[in-house]
Amino acid sequence: MASNCQRFLSPEASRVTREKRGQVLGHRSGFRGCTIWLTGLSGAGKTTLSYTLEAYLCNKGIPAFSLDGDNIRTGLAKDLAFSEADRTENIRRIGEVAKLFADAGIVTIASAISPYQADRLTVRQLHQRSGLNFFECYVSTSLEVCEKRDTKGLYKKAREGVIKDFTGIDSPYEIPINPDIVLKAGEWSVQQCVDIIINFLEAKNIIP
Ligand code: PPS
Ligand code: MG
Repeated sequence: MASNCQRFLSPEASRVTREKRGQVLGHRSGFRGCTIWLTGLSGAGKTTLSYTLEAYLCNKGIPAFSLDGDNIRTGLAKDLAFSEADRTENIRRIGEVAKLFADAGIVTIASAISPYQADRLTVRQLHQRSGLNFFECYVSTSLEVCEKRDTKGLYKKAREGVIKDFTGIDSPYEIPINPDIVLKAGEWSVQQCVDIIINFLEAKNIIP
């Protein structure tokens, strides 16, 4: 809960420009800070795509970092569960952290189910207010495919009622209305999906 002295606080501006950050980060100079936000059902392939892209970019000398839902939920968000309010708070936290990483000049790849359109819009606006690029990437693997894969056995547990409020089963997933990228990760290979993101980032002059 916010403390009552919060209204006396205001953000402090940095003495380092984004251009300067871009010069000192990575082998390839230039400010590239942005957030690529992967949203989709559990088991859609968000983590795999995020980590593959992160490795590709780092190998090219471009600083990149993956913020993955499962990792955040075992640390920064370990006090949160899967109610609507808790998911909103989870996305708010990931969004705030992603914005800071992006501002630091890092290509930030957030991968979280982020089932609510309003929460994703809030995160986009948070970036826009800071003049940072935000790209929503819908990992559009169908529920049928995700459930068939069931890599963590969570769908089975959800169907048995052992896990409540499971996305796609008894908790909603709102399909992105106007995503920047759509990846049919149930039909296309990991490399095909990552190549689409890479081409997109090149077209936006984020990466050379
Ligand atoms: S959210 O909705 O964005 O706040 O979720 P997120 O932080 O991405 O966490 C999703 C991962 O948590 C595991 N898990 C669940 N997912 C959905 N619903 C319920 N009830 C649930 N319980 C646990 C699961 O491992 C999700 O990871 P991914 O990688 O998406 O499969
Ligand atoms: Mg995952």
